[in-house]
Amino acid sequence: MAVVRKTRVAILISGRGSNMASLIAAAEASDFPAEIVLVAANRPEAPGLAFAAARGIPTRALDHKAYPSREAFDGALQAELAAAGIDLVCLAGFMRIFSAGFVEAWAGRMINIHPSLLPLFKGTHTHEQALAAGVRLHGCTVHYVVPELDAGPIIAQAAVPVRPGDDADTLAARILVQEHRLYPQALALVAGGQVRLEGERVVFSDDVVPADGALLSL
Ligand code: GAR
Repeated sequence: MAVVRKTRVAILISGRGSNMASLIAAAEASDFPAEIVLVAANRPEAPGLAFAAARGIPTRALDHKAYPSREAFDGALQAELAAAGIDLVCLAGFMRIFSAGFVEAWAGRMINIHPSLLPLFKGTHTHEQALAAGVRLHGCTVHYVVPELDAGPIIAQAAVPVRPGDDADTLAARILVQEHRLYPQALALVAGGQVRLEGERVVFSDDVVPADGALLSL
């Protein structure tokens, strides 16, 4: 049987790295179409770095405070990604905005998970935003990254009901469970070629058919 080359993925984190851990776990399956070959953080103290290193994944800490400009940081990151032969970048709680040039260099090859049902509740404090708006469904989104923050074409979403008595912490915890399901599924679709970006539209192959009425879109 022909050996199919796996998509070489870098995960970028800033902190805890629980979504990173879910991607690493999924990629351990022999039939997963991507391999995690690098984890990089913009904060040297990010706990996710130690987790990745303990699993034998090369890690890099690039302290953004050590670079004179956004472009200088992005250039150093780009050099690390190129050296590792990265095909696809997954942002997983990476809380730093890129220069437009970096985003354009990775157009169609960089995805992010965001804790809301985009295009609602961009930016930070998404659970507080959802509670203030009084929505009955909230959730998470995996999307391609474009220069405008949290505005890229949507690949996959998962919803949870907002329950009476929910606060930002209880909502965050239930949505995080769905993030950990959704992101590996979305990465598998992208790396496996079942999803691609055509211009500003996400195009799915015919075998991707989410069920009506499901709270999860995949
Ligand atoms: C996750 O909830 C992720 O969706 C969010 O940060 C958290 C990181 O947790 N990302 C953003 O808000 C990006 N704008 P993790 O480090 O445990 O994966």
